[in-house]
Amino acid sequence: MSVLEKISAAAIIATENKYGAHNYHPLPVVLSRGEGVYLWDVDGKQYYDFLSAYSAVNQGHCHPKIVNAMINQAQTLTLTSRAFYNDQLGPYEKYITNYFGFDKILPMNTGAEAVETALKLCRKWAYEVKGIEEHQAQIIVCDGNFHGRTTTIISFSNDENARKNFGPYTAGFIKIPYDDTDALEKALQSSDNIAGFLVEPIQGEAGVYTPADDYMQKVKALCNQHNVLFIADEIQTGIARTGALLAVCGDCACENHCERQSTYATPDILILGKAISGGVYPVSAVLANDSIMNVIKPGQHGSTFGGNPIAAAVATAALEVVIEENLAQNARYLGKIFRKKLNDYIKTSNIATLVRGRGLLNAVVINDTEESDTAWNICMQLAENGLLAKPTHGNIIRFAPPLVMNEEQLLDCIAIIIKTLKAFEK
Ligand SMILES: Cc1ncc(COP(=O)(O)O)c(C=O)c1O
Repeated sequence: MSVLEKISAAAIIATENKYGAHNYHPLPVVLSRGEGVYLWDVDGKQYYDFLSAYSAVNQGHCHPKIVNAMINQAQTLTLTSRAFYNDQLGPYEKYITNYFGFDKILPMNTGAEAVETALKLCRKWAYEVKGIEEHQAQIIVCDGNFHGRTTTIISFSNDENARKNFGPYTAGFIKIPYDDTDALEKALQSSDNIAGFLVEPIQGEAGVYTPADDYMQKVKALCNQHNVLFIADEIQTGIARTGALLAVCGDCACENHCERQSTYATPDILILGKAISGGVYPVSAVLANDSIMNVIKPGQHGSTFGGNPIAAAVATAALEVVIEENLAQNARYLGKIFRKKLNDYIKTSNIATLVRGRGLLNAVVINDTEESDTAWNICMQLAENGLLAKPTHGNIIRFAPPLVMNEEQLLDCIAIIIKTLKAFEK
């Protein structure tokens, strides 16, 4: 028995509350083990995971192939920094660039770092290739965006809680409504200094806002037309989560990049994180072609841990699992069942008003105000009933299980969700 198992859940929560910054508000569940779609708490209670660490654990908890890649590499070479070459990075770079169809990758660690990298890359391209006058570059972003927590990223957030008293803010961003190509066109026409458009193919944190099916294709066309970089943040939506390898693939079910190049909304800069390692290790990546990536020269950007041998070995294994286990197809198939069953239930329910999403990234909107604690209370009851999910914005509950789930497990989970929602009907 581990030391942790001997301490009660209440004591562990109290210790975190005393010694840790209060920058999160977790559900009062203390987890100590995970395998596949399941998690167990310190008292041995089993749960279905319906958050997947915000879509990082697409390949399931403690996937043996990914964990073994990590163990083997950790016993061989962990970190060299980029002062020297290591024997894992080059092969990983070749693998991931072929996998997603780009010339080059810039490896980082967390999602926010990768977004920062993409913003810097876009600005440098704007000055050195597009010819925008220095300090004048503007990047368009969307209302309701979530791209991470750095000072620059929160500068263009709408979330007052994430922004307030963290100023002064970084300049150079223009905000437009999400899923609105007219607004994008107007913003693109408004100035010659637009460098890029940063967008999530589905807004996960905002509440799984799912745009029109052709939004990404129209965005790509408009960006091309105005010589502006289309930057897709697929940190949450990517790596099979939405039923395709990338959400920008839209309705394309092919596993790899891509027979449908003509219609595929390939971004100029692709940002990945989270599930690129199967939730085993912090790994993120920025992918672009040479005409963009080559503006970065030695000394201009980097990270001590970015591209380290463990990250390279783990990410390669995690990406292989996505193909080997047909995770995109599974997410697509199960997602349809999830939305169909929840939609059928909602027709007769007064507690849930809407289910939306793509693949296995879905949300249910609860019939109460944003400020109410109904969604939180439903998540507490879901936990009691053996399923872990979390409200995202007030009255919206996100449902995003690991993609290794099977149909029987999904049906079991849907039964738990409907039973729990029914108990809250008015
Ligand atoms: C779309 C998107 N971008 C960026 C991030 C930030 O990633 P990280 O928390 O790894 O910094 C997230 C995290 O939830 C995200 O969903």
